[in-house]
Amino acid sequence: MANTPINKEIVEQNVQALDVPDLGKASIREIVQLVSNIEAKTGDRYVRMEMGIPGLPPARIGVEAEIEALKNNVASIYPRIDGIQPLKDEVSRFVKLFMNIDVDPLGCIPTVGSMQGGYAAFLVAGSCRKERDTMLFIDPGFPVQKQQMLVMGQKYESFDVYDYRGEKLREKLESFLSKGHIHSIIYSNPNNPTWICLTETELQIIGELANKYDITVMEDLAYFAMDFRTDLSKPGVPPYQPTVARYTDNYVLLISSSKVFSYAGQRIGMMVISDALYHRKYPNLPARLNVQTFGGAIVHRALYSLSSGTSHSAQYALAAMLKAANDGKFDFVKDVKEYGERAHIMKEMFLKNGFRIVYDKDMDEEIGDGFYFTIDYPGMTGGELLHNLLFYGVSAITLGNTGSTKEGLRACVSHVGRNQFADLEKRLEQFHHDFPIGEKREKSREMI
Ligand SMILES: Cc1ncc(COP(=O)(O)O)c(C=O)c1O
Repeated sequence: MANTPINKEIVEQNVQALDVPDLGKASIREIVQLVSNIEAKTGDRYVRMEMGIPGLPPARIGVEAEIEALKNNVASIYPRIDGIQPLKDEVSRFVKLFMNIDVDPLGCIPTVGSMQGGYAAFLVAGSCRKERDTMLFIDPGFPVQKQQMLVMGQKYESFDVYDYRGEKLREKLESFLSKGHIHSIIYSNPNNPTWICLTETELQIIGELANKYDITVMEDLAYFAMDFRTDLSKPGVPPYQPTVARYTDNYVLLISSSKVFSYAGQRIGMMVISDALYHRKYPNLPARLNVQTFGGAIVHRALYSLSSGTSHSAQYALAAMLKAANDGKFDFVKDVKEYGERAHIMKEMFLKNGFRIVYDKDMDEEIGDGFYFTIDYPGMTGGELLHNLLFYGVSAITLGNTGSTKEGLRACVSHVGRNQFADLEKRLEQFHHDFPIGEKREKSREMI
């Protein structure tokens, strides 16, 4: 403890200055700020695993198409709210070729990131039927979506899927859905923060229950095709990205371009509404939003009010990236496999030093290596582990932030360069040495 890699007093002063009683309850942004402050004061570099932002350059095809579009003066023209036709067509092709589902280009709509697509979809889904006023989150999940519910004043419920994998998921979901107040279910797949992937059986259960209880499913595919255990990169060739759309017609897909195309800065994503849902009339929509259909409410009420469409030039960028992927000329999965390789190496380092993977399996299968993984350390809560790791120059966020009932941390690999691996290994070895497992738990408390 005497010689931790980062000056103990400076870490402690900054933690105190943060003024949160339990570090485990600090938000992602608070942790980011805390670590940046410590780095600035000490001059030491952290192995930063708290931020879920892309760490690769943007897809060139997108950048070039966007520059071209700007030169053609699209900046001065309002784009169509529901998207330029070439983009709508390519999105529809994309879901056909990479998911094997048929969706009319009408329901393929660009949004200002998946964040906006989610916001609009939550707003409309919560307005369709008076008695259906609650969203159900299959957690762990992406904390900002709950913040969106908070901002809108909408209700939600959630449960940690950890103990309800496989057939057990059916009963758990029915315990919520049978009450009649849930309008939609949301989950991400692959999952942020745990990188678990729902199996085909689980997706089927969700789809069947959506049909039985007339629930809309919001499938968040922010990490599209990034379950690298299966090669999902070939257009028109199975296997395809797993999806609930094979089991129900009542769905909204949220497909982000931030991670798959490393295009986060331009804030463009895709919302894909099934044909049946797009045209469906809901009893409360005329009174609430002066419109009849789900699709009309999304485009002419929600998106019109939020931003009146998505950046014109970014739409050309996305259209070009999708066209190249659809034509088999751009292997976007190959570009992001780097995350999986990093995760593989980093997980080994943690495992060698006493850490465990918290969400470790999809039923019988080991989870894949991807953008995130989850870790715990015997005898420490998530908050204690984070606090202690800060002395060793390693940062992450606690699972408590994500609706998980488990103690532990989410580690994001995107901003850990391979040139930091040696440092990470050394720091974890020292941590493990300073906190031997099975004894001296007192010491951990003493340290924080
Ligand atoms: C599960 C999940 N959904 C949505 C988003 C947001 O995506 P976008 O950048 O397209 O708004 C993220 C980004 O981290 C995410 O992890």
